[in-house]
Amino acid sequence: MSKKLRLAAIGAVAAVGLTACGGGGAGSGGGNDTANANPEDLTIGVAMPTQTSERWIADGNNVKSQLEDAGYQVDLQYANDDIPTQSQQIDQMITEGADLLIIAAIDGTALSGQLQAAADANIPVISYDRLIRDSENVDFYVTFDNFAVGQAQATALLTGLGVLDADGNRTDAAGPFNIELFAGSLDDNNAFFFFNGAMDVLQPLIDDGTLVVPSGQTDIEQAATLRWQQETAQSRMETLLTGSYNNGTVLNGVLSPYDGISRGIITALQNAGYGPALASTPRPLPVVTGQDAEIASVKLIQDGVQSSTIFKDTRNLAEQAVTAAKAFLEGDEPEANDTETYDNGVKVVPSYLLPVQTVYAADIQSVLIDSGYYTQEEVDAGQTN
Ligand code: GAL
Repeated sequence: MSKKLRLAAIGAVAAVGLTACGGGGAGSGGGNDTANANPEDLTIGVAMPTQTSERWIADGNNVKSQLEDAGYQVDLQYANDDIPTQSQQIDQMITEGADLLIIAAIDGTALSGQLQAAADANIPVISYDRLIRDSENVDFYVTFDNFAVGQAQATALLTGLGVLDADGNRTDAAGPFNIELFAGSLDDNNAFFFFNGAMDVLQPLIDDGTLVVPSGQTDIEQAATLRWQQETAQSRMETLLTGSYNNGTVLNGVLSPYDGISRGIITALQNAGYGPALASTPRPLPVVTGQDAEIASVKLIQDGVQSSTIFKDTRNLAEQAVTAAKAFLEGDEPEANDTETYDNGVKVVPSYLLPVQTVYAADIQSVLIDSGYYTQEEVDAGQTN
């Protein structure tokens, strides 16, 4: 169907001859041959990284159902966090005649070949949540304000430590507080935005001695967690505890960029004897931040184990992706609200950034339950139905 459409369009161009072409070819971001098609005749390939993290399952489901509601056919694929698998899935989407691609990359630097093939076939590409780097063939980027995520994580850490009050003002708590820093996967552009946003808030307090990082590991390369994996984070936390806290030094807070990483950190801490966060226990659990409001972590927040998370409403991200997809398929350009921040190494990609919200225990009801994101039963169970 859609493949035929494109072949027909290619045929039409060939029939008109070369005079009008002037060497333009594909690539100005418009799959114009789709503008007059029925949505039912168009297929959108959606490439998601993994099903091991529930946020990407929610993203995939939201994008698929919203595209289907708009009448499009959807080819949704998960790649098990395996780079070759994701490359093959995208190759296949292109050869099977996808009319547009929505991609959340595993390795943001590994898809240049696929994106070139997409551009050659005049298929618009929307980068979903994670920026695809090193390619001029990224047509649009839908994401959250990732620098603000990092700032919010650092602010939540400081609030949990009592360095900031609920209004964000400095208290007279002078510290020093011992903290450790975790970052995401270095092949994910977002990891740098989160870490840099956090350090924007934390560095002045490290410099003035309010915060101390006993391990000394303050570079993103030292703090990174390949593929954002829980087990990797757990094992780094164990190493940090053995290396820097065996002498009785007490850890007060951990900057964690993602709920899966937070759960790995918390497991390591509990195994090492850090107890529930009660003032009476000698080693209360440190303040641990997070991101994504994954259901297992929301339960931990409700139970007072994890301190906070950053909620990114994936329903809204899916909606932006669908809006952008429709615009391209109708021959228009999607509306960007940021045309400066996301340089992918080749060009600044026009982007639509969504706002984020910090969630502490007291916010679960108003932010997550009242909005219908989770039910109270799901939070109590720590899993979705
Ligand atoms: C990032 C994303 C985060 C988190 C992380 C691990 O790219 O922005 O929200 O999901 O991946 O999956």
